[in-house]
Amino acid sequence: MSATNRALTKRHPYDAYSTPAWVTEAIVREIVWGTDPHILEPCVGQGAILNVLVNSPVVPPAYYDYCEIQEDRDFLTYDFNDRRFDFVITNPPFSLAQEFIERSLTLANCVIMLLRLNFLASRQRKEWWQKHPPTAIHVLTKRPSFTGKGTDATDYAWFVWDTTGRQKRGLYWL
Ligand SMILES: C[S@@+](CC[C@H](N)C(=O)[O-])C[C@H]1O[C@@H](n2cnc3c(N)ncnc32)[C@H](O)[C@@H]1O
Repeated sequence: MSATNRALTKRHPYDAYSTPAWVTEAIVREIVWGTDPHILEPCVGQGAILNVLVNSPVVPPAYYDYCEIQEDRDFLTYDFNDRRFDFVITNPPFSLAQEFIERSLTLANCVIMLLRLNFLASRQRKEWWQKHPPTAIHVLTKRPSFTGKGTDATDYAWFVWDTTGRQKRGLYWL
């Protein structure tokens, strides 16, 4: 997701914006990763999120998998052969965020998504949110820059859906 001057500039095909490292580092510290977690990045892009996880002292050695439409692995249709994951973590393409969350919830015990804060606010999504309430929201107190040319035009948060009861619940500011 990125909202930088979206009316003025052409969006990248597939919403291909890399997540700045500090954004991922901020949520990595808030998560209880457990031992040998199986982690899926469903739209890996250039690998910005995975890079932080792999190099973080906070994340234990993990098994990683990924999808990426530009590598002919469409997350929404990919056959995982009944595999499950401990975590799905990503910054999804804005236009497919709901679909990404829904599929992730069928695959993982804990889903962690970077979303615009105003993704919460739509009347159209009200029923959807009531069906899929997150267990925690970690609001970024600083706006990220996804283009390297100034900060984004909107605020973001990490949304967490946890079914294990191991993650903290509620509203936080990073
Ligand atoms: C906002 S970028 C985020 C990239 C990466 N997750 C990150 O945080 O740096 C969204 C990514 O989703 C990919 N994408 C779009 N539709 C997809 C799909 N159906 N399945 C898998 N990847 C997709 C794009 O190619 C792009 O790399």
